[in-house]
Order: sequence, then structure tokens, then C-alpha cells
Amino acid sequence: MYDVGQLIEEPELLGPLARSFHELTPPVYLRAVKIKLTARCNLKCVMCRYGRGWAPPELSAERFGQILREMAELGCRKVHFSGGEVLARRDFEEVVEAASQSGVKVTLTSNLTLLTKARAKRLLAQRISGISTSLDGASAKVHESIRGVPGSFKRTLRGIEYVARYAGKRPPKLRVNFVMMRENFRDYPALIQLVGERGAEDLVPMPVDTKRRELRLSKRLIREYNRDIAPEVRELRERYGLPLTELAIYPFGRDQDAEQTATGEYAGGYYHAHPCYAPWLHLFVAWDGKVYLCCMTNGRIEPLGDLATQGVREVFQGPRFQAIRAEMKHTRLASCHACDMYLSENRELQAAIGPAARLGEVGGVGSDVRAAAGGAMSTPVVSQFRLRNAPSALPAPRRLPLV
Ligand SMILES: C[S@@+](CC[C@H](N)C(=O)[O-])C[C@H]1O[C@@H](n2cnc3c(N)ncnc32)[C@H](O)[C@@H]1O
Ligand code: SF4
Ligand code: SF4
Repeated sequence: MYDVGQLIEEPELLGPLARSFHELTPPVYLRAVKIKLTARCNLKCVMCRYGRGWAPPELSAERFGQILREMAELGCRKVHFSGGEVLARRDFEEVVEAASQSGVKVTLTSNLTLLTKARAKRLLAQRISGISTSLDGASAKVHESIRGVPGSFKRTLRGIEYVARYAGKRPPKLRVNFVMMRENFRDYPALIQLVGERGAEDLVPMPVDTKRRELRLSKRLIREYNRDIAPEVRELRERYGLPLTELAIYPFGRDQDAEQTATGEYAGGYYHAHPCYAPWLHLFVAWDGKVYLCCMTNGRIEPLGDLATQGVREVFQGPRFQAIRAEMKHTRLASCHACDMYLSENRELQAAIGPAARLGEVGGVGSDVRAAAGGAMSTPVVSQFRLRNAPSALPAPRRLPLV
């Protein structure tokens, strides 16, 4: 959901969004997309499902170029590329060039271990607004015990150096993701120093999203972090000019929030009671062209379309997307309850255009869903969007491919 502040300021953007939301007409524009170009990866991180020989079919760079042009025509302002590992695609530079030429803002996430001088020069010749990379420890020992590949710590640091060296007059903002788990949470202060000295604009702590309890911090360890480490984190973040948000200092929350985080429930239950407007503004595309609402729902709901054979407009304004929007005005998917993405944007949008009509006010969920599907769906639509394998009590991945 790119630049919600600007969207709210501009009546020609806010008006159609409000109409589409309240009247369930297809959105007239798309705002931002995230594309996972590949599921392949050269590392073997303990908390991640990508890589390890998994190499499902991918759309070509040429097809992604066509898709990006169509997205730009539909009003898209920003694309974020991720994976898997984007640099595992030899044609990644081609895709970035297509995006950049279509005029959309480009950001990406990469572990940077496969960045050579030549690739850095070609990539950074394009306008890339932001690069996120990942460090999961402040030493090779901790980082590599999580990332599973010897030498990966040094190679990511070298990648960061190439980004700085070959960035032109408008260098991309460098952000470092830090997935926090039992094994590495005590490295947070040292990691602030390490990335601060390399000119990163942010170090983003991300509590590991996993069903594996042995990786997650227990309530006791979260209390230890909040008591013993958070004060030093605040001080160091201030010293290196990194953002001082509550979540950056207390990534597991405090008090009751912390207890919810320890059990895999995020965002203090915000999405139990409030709508998410992402389905009206954003879409997520997987390597094979399958379309989902967002990265949290990637592979967890039936795809809403397939860009291998369909156009972007056809999918984004089509009956399946409309049906899930109708459902989501009133209820949330199981993935939403473990989600903490877009919280501030959703709060702002709710204040600007109001929440969903309450159940019954517009004829109830069933009538909205049927109207939105335009009669094209004969079976009850609600059931089609349930999570595939996960009962709703289990935590779904959180912020997975953020970034
Ligand atoms: C899936 S990776 C893809 C980009 C790239 N391969 C990398 O590692 O930077 C995107 C981000 O998700 C993070 N991530 C992976 N598994 C995670 C998990 N289980 N919980 C939270 N974040 C996770 C990674 O550390 C990385 O910052
Ligand atoms: S977190 Fe990134 S580098 Fe690690 S396995 Fe997943 S995709 Fe690969
Ligand atoms: S999972 Fe998160 S981003 Fe996706 S629709 Fe639900 S609340 Fe919105």
C-alpha cells in the first residue's frame, strides 16, 4: 500500500477507493505490487521454506516485463521484488530494467551473496529506491548457524559494500532485516553497530514466524529481552540514527502483546476487529504468475488468477478478486490474525473512508459475495478462500517475504 498519506490527500484516488470498498465495484486502479520472482535460493536458513533444491517453474523475464507494463498502466506506483533469492535468477537485471523503464518505483530484498561487481554495476544503473538485505547475527558464527552456508556472512557484507560503491547519485536506501529467534536475539545491540557503521538507514527486527517453538522466544526470554537488552537497543539506535519506533525497540511488544507474540498471535488482534484495505490496493504475484492478496496468503488460499495466461486488469478487477473483497469487508482470513503488516496504513484508511458496513446492513456477507462475483460463481464463495492446510488456531507466516 504505497504512500497512503498521499492517497488520502488526493480526492481522485480516495474517492474511487471509498466507492469500490463500500459499493463493491471493481477498483479502478492498482497501487503497489510485490513479486516473488523465484523460489530458488542458494542459502538454507533454518526458519525459511525456500531453496534446498526447490525450483518450481518461473515466468520468463519477458513475460514479467509485459506484466510490469500493464501494472504501470493500471496506476501501480511501486513494485517490490523478492524470492527466494532474486539474484539466483540470471535474468534478474532484465526484470528490474523493465520495471524501472515502466516508471514504477522499485525496491527489492536479497541476501546479496550472489552480487558480483558486474551485476552490481548493471543493477545500480537503474533507479532502485530501496534495497533490503538480511543479517541474522553480528558474527559469522551466529549468522551462518542460522543461514546454513559457510562464507555467507562475509558475502552479504561484501554485497553491502558493492551497493555502496556502485550506487550513483541517488543511492538506494539500505535496510537490513534481522529475524530474531532464540539463537540470535542477544546479538541485536552488536548488529546495530555493525549495520550502523555501514550506513544502513534501518535495521528491522522481525520476530521469527514459525510453528517451531524451539526457534521462537518463550515468554521468559521475551521478558529477558525487554528488561536487559531493549534499553541498550534504544541507546544504540539513537546513536546510529536508526528509527526509534516502539516496534524497533520492543519487536515482541510489551506485556500482553508479548504474551500474544510468544504464542504466534501478532498485532494485538487488530485484524479481529478491523478491515484490511490491501485487497483493494495491492496484489502479490508468485514466480509462476499465480496471484494472491498479499505475501501472507501466498500459497495459503486458492490463487485469484494466473498471469501466465491472464492480464493484470482481468485478474485484479475480476470475479474471484471481487468475491474475496466482499468476504473481507466483514470477516478476515486466518492469515490475517497472524499478520501485522500495513497496520498504520489501515488505521489511516479506516479513519478516511470508514470500516465495512456491519453484518446485515447491506444484506449480509452472502449477498455482498454473490453481488461481487457477478453471478459468475455458483458455489458459496466464502469456503473457497479458507486456508489450505492450516487450522486457524495455528500461526500463519508473518511478514514472511517482507521485504
Ligand atoms: C524470504 S526472504 C527473501 C529475500 C532474501 N533471500 C533474503 O534472505 O534476504 C525475505 C525476508 O524474510 C525473512 N524471513 C525468512 N524466513 C522468515 C521467518 N520464518 N520469519 C520471519 N522472517 C523470515 C528473511 O530473513 C528475509 O529478510
Ligand atoms: S531467508 Fe532468504 S536466503 Fe534464507 S533461505 Fe529464505 S530465501 Fe533463502
Ligand atoms: S494477511 Fe495481512 S495484509 Fe494480507 S489481507 Fe490479511 S491483514 Fe491484509
